[in-house]
Amino acid sequence: MGSNDTNGVRTPLPRGARLAPRAAAPGPAAAPPAAPASPAPVASPGVPVRFPWKPEYGLGDERIDGQHRMLLDLANLLCDAIRRGKGRAVVMNAFNALRLYTNTHFRDEEAHFAQIGSPLLDAHRREHGTLLRELNALAADDVADRPAQAADALERWVETRLVAHMKIEDQEAQRSGTARG
Ligand SMILES: [Fe+2]
Ligand SMILES: [Fe+2]
Repeated sequence: MGSNDTNGVRTPLPRGARLAPRAAAPGPAAAPPAAPASPAPVASPGVPVRFPWKPEYGLGDERIDGQHRMLLDLANLLCDAIRRGKGRAVVMNAFNALRLYTNTHFRDEEAHFAQIGSPLLDAHRREHGTLLRELNALAADDVADRPAQAADALERWVETRLVAHMKIEDQEAQRSGTARG
């Protein structure tokens, strides 16, 4: 169980994982982790949890809620890596893991909302696109090269955009589909 791989895709941040630099890991920095079948909290020992899980982030769907938990874990690890002045490779791996997993989650969540017949699906898909563009615009170079500003910008984005999206738009889409069903 847990967030191990499927199709040979490595899960970059299993439970308890540390973002320790690894020598010579050529190729893509990080692949999107497989969607966890169940929540796989939380951060590494000693890592402050900037964005803790709250029940209001859940939709009542085990798979989607597990992904929301994973997004928060990845955001926590990234902010911590930046704040602690980890090396560029570590920070970039963490940034890419968050970016790619956000993409994975949005795709899966759109399929979920389609399945439950949410009339808000199209608007929700557009909002996901906006969020992804915003995240990508937090330029990767800035994350590594201007860590103080990047950490502030990332924390602000996670709090005011990603977490807010879980609390508001995700809940609305879930309710709209459930109400129809
Ligand atoms: Fe979501
Ligand atoms: Fe969403």
